[in-house]
Amino acid sequence: MGGGGIHDCLVGMDAGDGQGAVSASATRHHSQGGEGSIDAGDQRRLRSEDFRQIAGHEQEPAGQVFKNIQLEVLKKAPAARLLLIMNLGYSRALGVNCKYCHEEEDFSKDDKRPKRAAREMAVMHFSINQQLAKMKELEPNPQRHFINCSTCHRGSVKPKEQP
Ligand code: HEC
Ligand code: HEC
Repeated sequence: MGGGGIHDCLVGMDAGDGQGAVSASATRHHSQGGEGSIDAGDQRRLRSEDFRQIAGHEQEPAGQVFKNIQLEVLKKAPAARLLLIMNLGYSRALGVNCKYCHEEEDFSKDDKRPKRAAREMAVMHFSINQQLAKMKELEPNPQRHFINCSTCHRGSVKPKEQP
């Protein structure tokens, strides 16, 4: 499974808080969509270590590699892709770091309300996309029509507070 390791790693990589100092100073990397927009503050990012923890399992379904994936769409996603979704899709879209949703010691826990809210949001977002796909009067788009977390959030947990 390789599931246990990732959690330790993920704690270590939580770069902002000093605990992850080793890895933070050496390999913090800004390549992942690093336009600086979410670099204000202590946002931790995915680093190569994160992927090392799931080495050999990157392409296995996230539902098998991780302990507590409940959304069908995410269960099927390759494990490496789940990490990218967490980093870019979730953290970046909301302008938060992993700790906003996750308990540092165990990412599979559901103790934090925002994590549970994020699941509900994911369901909403999939259903909006299903409706978009059924629309007949939109201009054709080869990439299909879709929304994601950023469409509403745009870097803020409270979309309505955006100007
Ligand atoms: C907005 C909330 C949110 C943020 C921010 C977030 N996550 Fe998640 N994460 C989730 C949700 C929700 C799930 C469970 C998805 C499901 O049940 O299908 C999850 C699941 C995971 C899992 C699987 C844990 C397990 O064993 O079941 C890992 C690993 C993970 N996230 C890593 C990260 C990392 C790394 C970051 C920061 C880059 C991050 N997450 C940021 C909401 C979030
Ligand atoms: C259609 C617009 C829309 C989309 C798409 C959307 N959200 Fe939201 N989200 C909202 C609104 C509105 C709120 C409530 C904000 C408030 O409390 O004022 C919210 C709240 C949240 C919260 C709770 C924040 C808190 O701490 O109370 C989380 C977490 C969240 N969204 C995550 C996500 C994630 C992850 C995605 C993508 C899977 C997503 N949202 C997609 C509109 C959206």
